[in-house]
Amino acid sequence: MKLAIIAAAVLLAACSAEPDASPTKPAGALQPVSITLPAETAALPDTPAGTTLSQHCTACHSPDFLTRQPPLTAEKWQATVTKMREAYHAPISPADDPAIVAALVTLQGAPPAR
Ligand code: HEC
Repeated sequence: MKLAIIAAAVLLAACSAEPDASPTKPAGALQPVSITLPAETAALPDTPAGTTLSQHCTACHSPDFLTRQPPLTAEKWQATVTKMREAYHAPISPADDPAIVAALVTLQGAPPAR
């Protein structure tokens, strides 16, 4: 019986122990963290198409982003290039559109036939 009371007292003491709370930091306060991102290893190919996209797209997008896009038709790539210019103010001259669209189709391949 005496042993059971001691065990209960020890258990109570353990349960009521304060978590490691600091008086200067309120519970749930955000803590600074540090992460190390992996190095960018993707690159656009060293071809005319890759060079064209480097010149017009990599100011805002990583090579990885560009090479992971699905294959699209020239019409759909044209819509994307127009959107980049009009919605996101990409400094792309409309005169460069045909070369950029051709480069995107070359890089991504043709979409599968339906
Ligand atoms: C001035 C910055 C800028 C430039 C330059 C730019 N983009 Fe974007 N692009 C954006 C922003 C902002 C978004 C929307 C956010 C996102 O998805 O990353 C976007 C989104 C996209 C998307 C996602 C689909 C969509 O329609 O939103 C694709 C694909 C894309 N861009 C392709 C291109 C290509 C190809 C080029 C080069 C011809 C290009 N972008 C140049 C800013 C830019």
